[in-house]
Amino acid sequence: MKVLVVAGARPNFMKVAPILRALETAGHEAILVHTGQHYDTAMSDTFFKELGIKTPDYHLGVGTASHAVQTARIMEAFEPVFTKVHPQWLVVVGDVNSTVATALVASKLRTETHGHIAHVEAGLRSNDWRMPEEINRVLTDRLADLLLTPSEDAAPNLTAEGIPASKIVFVGNVMIDTLMLQLPVARAANTLERLGLRRRHYVAATLHRPSNVDDPIALAAVLEGLALVADSLPVVLPLHPRTLKNIERFHLGPMLTPLTILEPLGYTEMLALTDGAQCVLTDSGGIQEETTALGVPCVTLREQTERPVTITQGTNRMAPWPLTPRGILDTYLDSVAAVAQATPPRPAGWDGHASERIVKALEDKRPLKHY
Ligand code: UD1
Repeated sequence: MKVLVVAGARPNFMKVAPILRALETAGHEAILVHTGQHYDTAMSDTFFKELGIKTPDYHLGVGTASHAVQTARIMEAFEPVFTKVHPQWLVVVGDVNSTVATALVASKLRTETHGHIAHVEAGLRSNDWRMPEEINRVLTDRLADLLLTPSEDAAPNLTAEGIPASKIVFVGNVMIDTLMLQLPVARAANTLERLGLRRRHYVAATLHRPSNVDDPIALAAVLEGLALVADSLPVVLPLHPRTLKNIERFHLGPMLTPLTILEPLGYTEMLALTDGAQCVLTDSGGIQEETTALGVPCVTLREQTERPVTITQGTNRMAPWPLTPRGILDTYLDSVAAVAQATPPRPAGWDGHASERIVKALEDKRPLKHY
């Protein structure tokens, strides 16, 4: 079976790593395309090295641009690659611009190439159409022939949109495959020592959603909330490039003084930071899942989450919206107190074997027509 796998941005890399490995183990031909949506060492190269991802067979080098331009560039560059490779399956992961752009190219070429599209992480919904990721998720699910869901709450979202149940396969969370493989490596590395931190004696934070960082008032409120938390324990904030740019643009640099600021971390160091934290404050999707898998308390700095399983069966809770410094502090205090009492078991399918189930689903639903 010939499978073309796409990766474009940081949250994709930990998802494609186990899929590529499982495809290879099962004797299938895997071709990797990197769109270049994320391009620098900290946001891309480090992950390839640490996670043992093969050098991409094709690198589209699209880089940063407006949504329309970035999406269009990916489509233009991907079309000839897709036609040339002529795979039976296109596998796309997550909800970034690279996901929807490549799925759209493949779907338009369907009658010519007979290639089929599988979406890994299908069925998550925030129901917030202001988020670019929500648009990407919904459209990709609509285009896909095979919808591979990460948690049991995802399929009802798809059937409610009219997607036939026959296209949906529950495979579990592939990001947890990577987490389980890398956790011993992360624990053996001396990350906390190097950063001068003691296990459970610091709070980790991440921030990059446009809703939090593209508006000066919203960004100032979150930074003030983190400063309130930092009155109790050090707050460590690896800064996403988008956030750093906006802090400079809005002249909010002095608000970083109470915080411990780091460059973006690689996978292993970020995992070590998350695993050792007393609590994590974040607007990331993936970190809500990672904290749930690790049993670390998490406060989500968003209006809603597309990953409700991390609340119903995990360690996550939402800070009240709109975010206020006091609301962030109070939710942090509640969260730490609640999770100290009991660590819930991991959600179904978060067991380190999702990539094998993904390959099995591709084999089972192998397109019959292929020329
Ligand atoms: C993208 C994804 C988001 C994901 C996030 C993880 C979409 C719509 N958004 O958002 O879902 O959670 O990645 O990081 O696909 N930059 C660098 N180096 C890089 C890449 C980007 O410095 O390697 C800078 C860019 O110049 C830009 C900023 O980071 O100013 C934001 O990058 P962009 O790719 O536009 O979106 P993200 O906010 O990273």
